[in-house]
Amino acid sequence: MKKSLFLSAAACLIFAACATTGSSQAQSAPVTPSKPSVPLSAPLSAQADKIWPAVKSPIGLDAGIETRIDALLAQMNTAQKVGQLIQPEIKNISPDDAAKYNIGSVLNGGGSWPTGKVDGPLAGWLALANRFYGASMDTGDGRLAIPIIWGTDAVHGHNNVQGATIFPHNIGLGAANNPGLMRDIGTATAREVAVTGIDWAFAPTVAVARDIRWGRSYESYSSDPKIVAELSKEILLGLQGHPALGNFLSEQKLVATAKHFIGDGGTAGGKDQGNTVLSEQELFDIHGQGYVQTIGAGVQTVMASFNSWNGNKLHGSKYMLTDVLKGKMGFDGFVIGDWNGHEQIPGCTKSSCAAAINAGVDMIMVPDDWKAFLDNAVRQVNAGEISQARLDDAVRRILRVKMRAGMFDDGKPSTQRLAGRAKLIGHKSHRAVARQAVRESLVLLKNDNALPISKRANVIVAGSGADSPSMQSGGWTLTWQGRDVADEKYKGFTTVKDGFEQAISSGTVTSDTATAADVAVIVFGETPYAEMEGDLQNTDFDLTSSADFKLMQSLKARNIPVVAVFLSGRPRGVDAAIQASDAFVAAWLPGSEGGGLADVLVEGDYNFKGKLPFDWPANGSGQYKPRGYGLTYTAAARQ
Ligand code: BGC
Ligand code: BGC
Repeated sequence: MKKSLFLSAAACLIFAACATTGSSQAQSAPVTPSKPSVPLSAPLSAQADKIWPAVKSPIGLDAGIETRIDALLAQMNTAQKVGQLIQPEIKNISPDDAAKYNIGSVLNGGGSWPTGKVDGPLAGWLALANRFYGASMDTGDGRLAIPIIWGTDAVHGHNNVQGATIFPHNIGLGAANNPGLMRDIGTATAREVAVTGIDWAFAPTVAVARDIRWGRSYESYSSDPKIVAELSKEILLGLQGHPALGNFLSEQKLVATAKHFIGDGGTAGGKDQGNTVLSEQELFDIHGQGYVQTIGAGVQTVMASFNSWNGNKLHGSKYMLTDVLKGKMGFDGFVIGDWNGHEQIPGCTKSSCAAAINAGVDMIMVPDDWKAFLDNAVRQVNAGEISQARLDDAVRRILRVKMRAGMFDDGKPSTQRLAGRAKLIGHKSHRAVARQAVRESLVLLKNDNALPISKRANVIVAGSGADSPSMQSGGWTLTWQGRDVADEKYKGFTTVKDGFEQAISSGTVTSDTATAADVAVIVFGETPYAEMEGDLQNTDFDLTSSADFKLMQSLKARNIPVVAVFLSGRPRGVDAAIQASDAFVAAWLPGSEGGGLADVLVEGDYNFKGKLPFDWPANGSGQYKPRGYGLTYTAAARQ
């Protein structure tokens, strides 16, 4: 990302009045690019025009950038232009092929590492970023030097990288609901990603999950659109920076993505990639708020969603992507498709889909079939199935974002300020932010005098989640589904049990459940899952076959007070476990800093702050507690 500050942004800092306009371009004349940035959108109906707002990005068009794009476009042939639209997965393309086919971008998917191994050397990331960059800037054979942009799912920290700080998943951050903290999380995440030479994070997810049977509910901050909108905006400011802060896409920042546009959290039955059936007004009121806020804060990319709206796949919706998002809402960055999302449009396949490009997807995430897709798209342009104007518009948007990010001028990834600074991965200052987030995310649902626990108590800490980095972290951690990685590979993690060992100063901590104790902390919950595999038929959590639940009951029978800690990506019906325990804590998916649990559960400097970001269901049907609920403790510590 670029090395220099915007001069006008620096001026904003000095002349505070400028910041109140929210725009570094406030004093400069409006810029009209020589080709309009949204030539292809149709005006909305009078009714729709009232629903969708015009949003003003604080970035604005820059005459110099638009002129530079004109000059580049004039030199590009069709194949070179189409290449910019293609995003293969790093496992499926070599840097040489990226050069040969003028490829504009690559991604690494969940659980994809440059060395092919979760515990390969950290330096492998930067080395591969350098190789792709070098290939993209090689002007041999008449090629043009256009830097390639690498995207990664840094959705709760730089989560594919061993040793990175892993923040709580979004649902926990919704419980914490602390905007300032979100900015710190975005800042720390951007720094860790910058170490690896990557310029782009597929975050934040601005989904508003409305049915917690959806397996991606934990990627949603809340069922409340207001909370989602505010927290998304703040983490975005941390990730991308902002002109008024003088750090927009500066060296420590990344291009960010608001995803998945639109209605991903509203599908019938919570079905992943399903159909969201809503009026246009409801779609905007519930699922549109995160986009209003993030576009208004300058987000540079938006990811199209797998789901449909009223039966139509978003990847094929010219109305939503072009007329609404780019036209009325004024989004001037680029739209990235989701993983083969285009193939779900009727008439399309993985390797051929003019309809997605025509609808407004600017860059196609086509992890493996990229070569055939590229050939087909070139043919479709030549045959007029994709217009030259549309192709130029897509390329213009991609080049605009690359130029705003300073990628043309910065040199290779390893020359960037934070590149290769291994000490920043999992840095203690980042871990401190994550641990604060864990503390603030915990929601106390019940306390019959069991909390706080005395520092002098003899404590049993047991249950399947007590010493489990994977259960603490959930999906999108080291691997896609968050499974199948040995505990010792979660480098730098503090488990819940480790945290108790540090916090109990003069008592004892044991996992021996047969021993006598003053209190038992039983950590249980969901095992990891991600998209496609996490959907549920109903929200009841199966306690009948749970060894953890049997343990709670046997401890109770021995008159040992039980503190139940539930690790999960969403609220679940756990009535009998709540009844069987003296205190019940919803801990969500806290990530690498499990010590945040003992910080709050053991007497000391902290109390509970978290409030339910979703309603908590009772078993069968109905509600146990509504959104917004969350206790604090007042009682003296229990010995
Ligand atoms: C997910 C996106 C993710 C992408 C790349 C998709 O399946 O829906 O959220 O960014 O994969 O891993
Ligand atoms: C990838 C993910 C992707 C998913 C979609 C996985 O193999 O690692 O990033 O989202 O496939 O199918």
